[in-house]
Amino acid sequence: MTTRERVLVIGATQGTGLHIVRRLLRDGYAVRVLAREPARAGAVLDSEVEIVRGDVTQANTLAAAMPGVDHVVLTAGVTHRPAGERLVRATVYDGTMHTLEAARNAGLPGQFLYMSALGTTRGSWLGFLLNRIKGNALKWRRLAAEEIRGSSLSYTIIRAGILTNAPAGQRAIEISQNEYPMAPRYRVSRADVAEVFVQALRHPRTRNTSFDVVSTPGQPSRDWTALFAGLVPD
Ligand SMILES: NC(=O)c1ccc[n+]([C@@H]2O[C@H](COP(=O)([O-])OP(=O)(O)OC[C@H]3O[C@@H](n4cnc5c(N)ncnc54)[C@H](OP(=O)(O)O)[C@@H]3O)[C@@H](O)[C@H]2O)c1
Repeated sequence: MTTRERVLVIGATQGTGLHIVRRLLRDGYAVRVLAREPARAGAVLDSEVEIVRGDVTQANTLAAAMPGVDHVVLTAGVTHRPAGERLVRATVYDGTMHTLEAARNAGLPGQFLYMSALGTTRGSWLGFLLNRIKGNALKWRRLAAEEIRGSSLSYTIIRAGILTNAPAGQRAIEISQNEYPMAPRYRVSRADVAEVFVQALRHPRTRNTSFDVVSTPGQPSRDWTALFAGLVPD
């Protein structure tokens, strides 16, 4: 990086988003986080991180987070359980629309990176069950991804397998456009997904692509050019 790029991360108080923030800081990015409860976010985030109060379900809270931002990473998902379809839609679909609109209005110069899930593009019994239990979360994620693809922004949509808390770099990962279904055999650690996000920022091959990321047998590789080599734009 020649200049210090600023990344806005939404969904950074825990899980994959929190891993992404830590990885970005390690690489020298300036990081801004949009959080519903800044005090709680401040307790888990490095003091270097700028925190802006906001909520993706409330469109008018997003503009203040955008000035000076080069890239947006959106990993927000419903954390309250049980959650009805209304909250799922408001967070996953409306929240993406609001974030896209704010990014577009601010003239986002860089990437819009979005965390999605396997099973949004192909059905399975587990996906069916998940949609039933979790307010059609996969359906709303699929529709959100379609909005991103149809936007004028440069984007990357990362469809993760079932998330685990294993440390980064312990398993090999596969990056593909196979559109795997949601199934117990397709897993990946949050820390590995975070690494994929950070690498995607650097690799032009990921521009305007949607792809799956899952753990796979074999030796972990850090050759990101090779890992992304097979990607084709949507
Ligand atoms: N579980 C899986 O196997 C799986 C697989 C693929 C993809 N995903 C998706 O991947 C993403 C990351 O999952 P994860 O388990 O690592 O993290 P997570 O525990 O689901 O964390 C979600 C984050 O979103 C934030 N958030 C929720 N509602 C928000 C709102 N209205 N405005 C702003 N921020 C909001 C939460 O902040 P608060 O602290 O304020 O709640 C939290 O930081 C999620 O979107 C999840 O649905 C999950």
